[in-house]
Amino acid sequence: MIKFVFDLDGTITKVETLPLIAAELDLADEMKLLTDLTLTGKIPFDKSFKLRYLILRNVPLKKIQDIMATVPLDEEILAFIAEHKKNCAIVTGNLDCWIEPLAEKIDCEIFASTSELDDRNSPVLTKILDKGTVIRELKKSCDKIIAVGESFNDVSMFEAADVSIAFGGVHKPVDAAISVADFVVFDSGALCRLLKNFLPIGEKKPMQKTLVLIKPDAFGKNHSGDILKIYEDAGFKIVAAKVMRMTPELAAKHYAEHIGRPYYPSLVEFMTSAPIMALVLAGDNVIKKVREINGATNPAEAADGTIRKLFAEDKSKNAVHASDSPESAAREIPIFFSAAEIFD
Ligand code: CDP
Ligand code: MG
Repeated sequence: MIKFVFDLDGTITKVETLPLIAAELDLADEMKLLTDLTLTGKIPFDKSFKLRYLILRNVPLKKIQDIMATVPLDEEILAFIAEHKKNCAIVTGNLDCWIEPLAEKIDCEIFASTSELDDRNSPVLTKILDKGTVIRELKKSCDKIIAVGESFNDVSMFEAADVSIAFGGVHKPVDAAISVADFVVFDSGALCRLLKNFLPIGEKKPMQKTLVLIKPDAFGKNHSGDILKIYEDAGFKIVAAKVMRMTPELAAKHYAEHIGRPYYPSLVEFMTSAPIMALVLAGDNVIKKVREINGATNPAEAADGTIRKLFAEDKSKNAVHASDSPESAAREIPIFFSAAEIFD
C-alpha cells in the first residue's frame, strides 16, 4: 500500500496556525520569533515547540480550538485526501487537542504531538512527535511513502520517506527541505497531479466531468471562444462539444427541477430561441470550480472576472450553465452526449 503523508501547518493550512493564535492573543511577536527560528532550523523543533506550548498552554483549550476552526485549508489538497482517504495521513508536530477542529475537517489518519488534559482542561504535553520516527514506523506496513512538507521540521520525514516533495503553496520551502526533496512544487493543483502519478493504475480515478452550456445570448454574440479560453486557461479539458438547438423536450429534461417556477416558460423560450454550444469539461474538482468561474446566477451579483460578470445580460440571459453537483453532472451529461461522443 502506498501512503501519502502531509505536513499540516503551511502545507494544508494556508497560514501557520500557532502565530495566528498568538496574534489573537497579543503574543504575535514572541510567537513569530519562535516560528521563524524553527522554520529556518535555527532552533530545533522540539525545543521551540515546547516554548510555544508554554506560551499557549494557559489559554483555554476551547479558545485555541475556536481559532483553529477558522484556519483556511487548501481545497485541492483536501479534495485529494477525501478521494484517497485510506492512502493519506497527516504528520504534524502540532498538539493533538489544539488541531482537533482541523483533523475533523481533513478526516484521515493523523499523527501529532500528544497531550493529556489536566483537571483544568489544559493540555499537558506528553510527547513531541518526531516525524522521521513516524515514517519509519509507517514503512513497516506500507510499500511506498510519499511525504509532502515545507519546513525544517519536515527534513527528517523527507529523509525517511521513499519520495519527498517540498511544497511551496503557502511559502517558499526552506532550503534544507528543498535540498533533500525529490520534487519542489509551488501550486496545489500541480502537487495533486504529481501525487496521482504515484497511484497504481487501477486506483486512478477517472477525471471529474461537468456539463456546460453556452447559452443562446453568449453563443449568438460570438463569446464562445472567449469562454472556452477561460475554461482551458483554468486547466480544464474539453472532452465533448457540439453546436445544437435545444428543443422544448430537451429543455424540460434538462431543467426538470425548474418546471412550475414562474420563470420556467421564459427560460425554455430563451434556451430554445437560438443555437447553443454544449460541452463536457473534465479536470480536478471541475464541477465546483466551473461554478465559481461562471459566477452567480444573477450577473449583477457575480464576482469580477467571472463569465457571467463579463458576458451575461441579466438573471435569465446569463451566458452559461454548469452542473451544480456530481449528481447533476451525472444526470445532465447523458442528456446532451452519448458515451461515444465523450473523449476522456
Ligand atoms: O444556472 P444556475 O444553476 O446558476 O441557476 P438556477 O437557479 O439553477 O436556474 C437555472 C436558470 O434558470 C438560470 O441560469 C437562469 O437562466 C434561469 N432563471 C431565471 O431566468 N430566473 C430566475 N429567477 C432564476 C433562474
Ligand atoms: Mg442550476
